[in-house]
Amino acid sequence: MSRRPLIAGNWKMNTTRNDALALASALTDADLPQNVDVAVFPPSIWIEAVRRALGQDIHLGAQDCSAEVKGAFTGQVAAVQLRELCDMVIVGHSERRRDAYESDELVGRKAAAALAAGLTPIACVGESLEVREAGEAENVVGSQVDAIVQAIGDVPASEFVLAYEPIWAIGTGRSASSEDAQSMCAFIRSRIGAGGPDVRILYGGSVVPDNAGAYLAQADVDGLLVGGASLKADQFLAIVAAC
Ligand code: 13P
Repeated sequence: MSRRPLIAGNWKMNTTRNDALALASALTDADLPQNVDVAVFPPSIWIEAVRRALGQDIHLGAQDCSAEVKGAFTGQVAAVQLRELCDMVIVGHSERRRDAYESDELVGRKAAAALAAGLTPIACVGESLEVREAGEAENVVGSQVDAIVQAIGDVPASEFVLAYEPIWAIGTGRSASSEDAQSMCAFIRSRIGAGGPDVRILYGGSVVPDNAGAYLAQADVDGLLVGGASLKADQFLAIVAAC
């Protein structure tokens, strides 16, 4: 079993069009290692422009998709529409669970819609600080994982990606210890069941060049989902180089 590392940059609601193009060009011009998948997730309005600026060997994705296929869903974008432009999509990010009130069940349906459209979903899970301090982190993350696994049915585990992003570590500078990240990623893998060994599981939350190597050295951490540090090409490339 060998799981290819994946370093994913979630640009969130950052970058002007020019910023996005400059970032894409800087990544395209870099010498990327052969043994790692690199992916960027610009704001959806820039995906088409970024696609034109981006080298073939860098994956491109959206930060969300609809659980629905088509129809009267104002403001939403269907996975099949995204598939015309890109090959991956993040679903269930904690910022969407928080700001758009996305439930575990909806996140599962979004992951299933992505897979049905031919996109690789990165489905995010993670607990709040309150939940962690109450000793409930595995219960909460376990339920989030169950909802995703149940919704996607018998899709081969190699076709989707999970990301463990503890909410308290996102954008706070308070990253999880590499031991905590390993322990939760191992728990998530065991929770997936038979396909567990084939699923790529990423860690995300205040990843920077200085701590990337420690996460990547963990047996069950197969890559990183990077927010703030993905907006600076030199930092993101240094994280890629840590693989
Ligand atoms: P930061 O790396 O800025 O903490 O963000 C992590 C994240 O939410 C990536 O999806």
